[in-house]
Amino acid sequence: MNSFVYNIPTKVYFGENQLGHLGEELRKFGRRVLLTYGGGSIKRNGLYDRVIEELSKADLEVFELSGIEPNPRIESVREGVKICKEQGIDVLLAVGGGSTIDATKFMAAGACVEHDAWEFFGANAKPINEALPIVTILTLSATGSEMDTGGVISNLATGDKLGRLAAPLLPRVSFLDPTLTYSVSKYQTACGAADIMSHIIEVYFNTQEDLFMLDCFMEGMLKTVVKYAPIAVAEPENYEARANLMWTSSWAINGFINGGKRKAWSCHPMEHELSAVYDITHGLGLAILTPRWMKYCLDETTVDKYVQYGVNVFGIDPSLDKMEIAKRSIALTEEFLFEKLGLQRTFTEVGIKREDFKMMAQKACRYGDIKGFKTLTPADVEAIFEMCL
Ligand code: NZQ
Ligand code: ZN
Repeated sequence: MNSFVYNIPTKVYFGENQLGHLGEELRKFGRRVLLTYGGGSIKRNGLYDRVIEELSKADLEVFELSGIEPNPRIESVREGVKICKEQGIDVLLAVGGGSTIDATKFMAAGACVEHDAWEFFGANAKPINEALPIVTILTLSATGSEMDTGGVISNLATGDKLGRLAAPLLPRVSFLDPTLTYSVSKYQTACGAADIMSHIIEVYFNTQEDLFMLDCFMEGMLKTVVKYAPIAVAEPENYEARANLMWTSSWAINGFINGGKRKAWSCHPMEHELSAVYDITHGLGLAILTPRWMKYCLDETTVDKYVQYGVNVFGIDPSLDKMEIAKRSIALTEEFLFEKLGLQRTFTEVGIKREDFKMMAQKACRYGDIKGFKTLTPADVEAIFEMCL
């Protein structure tokens, strides 16, 4: 097991009625706040009014940027950078899901440099040495952006959707109130659950030596998603289900579970090309890809990990033949995603076409072969795409 650094300093207010602390937390960073949000869900569910009330109680000066898109665009980031610079913003407050939070992270970093924010991305990316402080109010359990150093931005002009990790992007404070996710649609709840599951699977299915404690932790989180996501889909106002999903979303990707393992993410690089070209929801793309990728990687050299997953997460009988357990574990993953969560199962259903496979596969491997659970070349990625039709 490799040595590692553990440093997850985001302060979290978890639970109902915590927004009373919003003003005091923001005041620690200054008075001029840029409030960012998406397409209006926070206005429809009343959260916007509650936030504004807290901000005015704390006598903060508020500037706003709304309309941040799902799969957020670089143009929104540029707009935010402009406001930060022109208005001398002290702190950014992102209220929304991963898209709003991600875009806000790069506004905060872009405000500290002279170059265009898109230069933070790609093979010759510029460093991110600092960012304005970021506070978040999470409204959708999925990406973990509320407690991680990452963000993903789309550029329609270049046809790219690129991610970036940098420590200064970590939110200083995040408010996690499960009741704020009651209004999330069944579809977005299901996509969010698929995303959380994938974040865990991307680390769990790894050829590097495991730390037993972390594997148990991941299995616990996977069981949590499998148990509670269908409940949240069926009963949107079930607090227990929403709370379990919310806290799992943060811990699935805040770095804790890596435990020094090399990065082995496979489905995410493939999925980002799907959303770059087709603008589909990230979690849906992952749901379609994940079981196919699992099938593609299964052989005598990898089977043990599937057995561990199948037995410990889905309770499959350990006395069965190993290959049989592995196949059942994939079938149960499919049943969870496509039947219990009701997500679409194929590229054909969501309009993703074979004619783009080669280009998307090349781009998924833009930094070289995907060195994941199994190394994937562009040809492997294309083969996995074929399995998704
Ligand atoms: O824009 P509004 O009107 O707020 O509506 C949003 C949006 O339409 C809606 N929504 C959010 N909270 C709601 C709500 N609707 C009703 N009630 C609420 N409480 O849900 C829709 C989707 O929102 P979005 O923020 O796009 O979803 P998500 O949180 O899944 O974020 C997806 C983005 O994050 C990136 C994805 O690639 C994608 O661009 N990711 C970010 C990661 C990170 N920062 O570490 C990691 C992930 O793997 C992922 O790549
Ligand atoms: Zn994800």
